Amino acid sequence: EVMSDIFDLTNVENKLKECLGLAEVIVVPGDSDEAPWVKKEMGRATVQLMKRYLAYEETKIVALTGGTTVAAVAEMMTPDSEMKETLFVPARGGLGEQVENQANTICATMATKAMGHYRLLHVPDQLSQDSYSSLMEEPKIKEILDLIRSANLVVHGIGEATTMAQRRSSSEEILQTLHEKQAVAEAFGYYFNQNGDIIHKVLTIGLQLEDVIKTKSVVAVAGGTSKAHAISAFMKQKTSNILVTDEGAAKALLELH
Ligand code: BG6
Repeated sequence: EVMSDIFDLTNVENKLKECLGLAEVIVVPGDSDEAPWVKKEMGRATVQLMKRYLAYEETKIVALTGGTTVAAVAEMMTPDSEMKETLFVPARGGLGEQVENQANTICATMATKAMGHYRLLHVPDQLSQDSYSSLMEEPKIKEILDLIRSANLVVHGIGEATTMAQRRSSSEEILQTLHEKQAVAEAFGYYFNQNGDIIHKVLTIGLQLEDVIKTKSVVAVAGGTSKAHAISAFMKQKTSNILVTDEGAAKALLELH
């Protein structure tokens, strides 16, 4: 029974890797929509994967996004020799999350558990164009932005568009735009339609999608049957090359493709 289940998941991983055009796919058993421990298992699998990828890097810099899934990665982090040399940074500035779901918080937690290092990015949410421009001129901000852009590993979540917009208490106007333009996915503060086109973006400093594309290893961690459409849409951007997901999302994704 157990052996055939494992074989089945390896099969699902290979099929997904092929149809999404990714370098690596890891599928953990279960569905995180139904059982909370499944998110922790995705976290555990991501930690192992991070250690494997970082082993090859001379300078180890990891950029992280916020969200409950990346928070689960932080929770499962354990120290080792690779991790002690790792610098953790948030991928982007304020995106309107609660403290425990913010990239800064997760970054500090993960670095502490890894016994590594961290630097934070303190920028308010919902920047105006003016404050955005002046922040970009701050030497301290410039310095950390350079570090963030030199990350060789990015670990990020993917959200369902409406869920994320509501969680961020976005304005009626934004909710309306997302609805009209049929947003299905969100990642890095960008919203996408089913074809993977960008239809809206939150203004904040840090990694822009064009920077993420240039990063060597980009790991998306997202699971649950309810996220299948969002994962499928975002993967059309070809920004991430690695996916850690669960059986629920994986099986739904295979049905979509
Ligand atoms: C947010 C990120 O913090 O978490 C988003 O800014 C991401 O880009 C989201 O989509 C995912 O959240 P969760 O809780 O579903 O892992």
